[in-house]
Amino acid sequence: MTKLFEPLALATISLKNRLVVSPMCQYSADQGFPTDWHLVHLGQFAAGKAGAVIQEATAVAPEGRISYWDLGIWSDEQGKAYQKITDFIKSQGSIPGIQLAHAGRKASDNRPWEGRGQFAPEHEFGWQTVAPSAIPFSERDFIPKELTVEETQELVSQFKSAAERAVKAGYEIVEIHAAHGYLIHQFLSPLVNKRTDNYGGSFENRIRFLLEIVEAIKPITANKSLWVRISATDWAENGWDLEQSIALTSVLKTKGVEVIDVSSGGAVHHQKITVEPGYQVPFADAIKNQTGMITAAVGLITEAQQAETILEENQADLILVARKFLQSPHFVYEAAKELGAELDWAPQYARAKG
Ligand code: FNR
Repeated sequence: MTKLFEPLALATISLKNRLVVSPMCQYSADQGFPTDWHLVHLGQFAAGKAGAVIQEATAVAPEGRISYWDLGIWSDEQGKAYQKITDFIKSQGSIPGIQLAHAGRKASDNRPWEGRGQFAPEHEFGWQTVAPSAIPFSERDFIPKELTVEETQELVSQFKSAAERAVKAGYEIVEIHAAHGYLIHQFLSPLVNKRTDNYGGSFENRIRFLLEIVEAIKPITANKSLWVRISATDWAENGWDLEQSIALTSVLKTKGVEVIDVSSGGAVHHQKITVEPGYQVPFADAIKNQTGMITAAVGLITEAQQAETILEENQADLILVARKFLQSPHFVYEAAKELGAELDWAPQYARAKG
């Protein structure tokens, strides 16, 4: 049996294969509510037999949206609207996951296809952003408001309420977005977090916000799988790095986080990344092998054999794929064919099996 098509049994769920759809913002929500686009977009990957489908960054508060058109789960009504999506994903034998997020200083942005650029707080599609410190992401951006301790704790409870709604809506995986320079990562990175209170300075203080969120969410997700996506490095001098990621993962392991999804970058404008196939896999490898955590690799993994080799070499346990799935929503069928693996095709598609 190939590794890629070997099921993965987690504590409460079992993935039929190791190919997972990585979260991808669609900028197509209506006041934070999912639209038909989301059902069709996410549904196609479930029909395509992905092991799990992780829904895009879904904001825990309106100001946490990267853009006005992001999904949200800050109200009970929004929570209920996701049931249709999770029901469909499950009906295809896949596992629905949701990524809970807050964009912090990188919020209030435009849709990428209209050209990136933050909207001013007074613009109809913009708002005042927040962050651990009042430092903008780049010179082009607006200055975020520094969060007070009370506001930081309110955010923890917003993540908690969002997780409650997510579980009610039927998601089996709850992933906390602590990567890509969004709010939680802003607290983690010493280049972004310049606070002098309990939430800034030392490693213990910078990880506090994330740990409080994990501790708040863990009881709610006791029968679900709790994942955290991190950026393993800021790709910048004196920033967040692999060593801190390994230390953080060891702590998260003791708090009931089941999977670390290992991405990188996004915290600072001056990052220097060398992008090449599988460029983030060595981070997943180091974290997995130094902490024993179940680890997902992501980033320019586009070939079935490449994914298979990562698993064979014990560099990761799961393969998350984003852009390749956009190019080829039936990548799982193609990968099974290429590797000669058995796969239960959707009966509606079985005549194409060949
Ligand atoms: C992304 N990515 C992303 N990541 C994340 O954690 N939350 C998100 O909502 C999004 N949104 C998003 C939208 C689109 C259109 C793309 C292409 C990407 C990043 C994505 O999940 C993945 O980590 C990277 O794209 C690298 O993987 P690939 O594309 O090389 O497989």
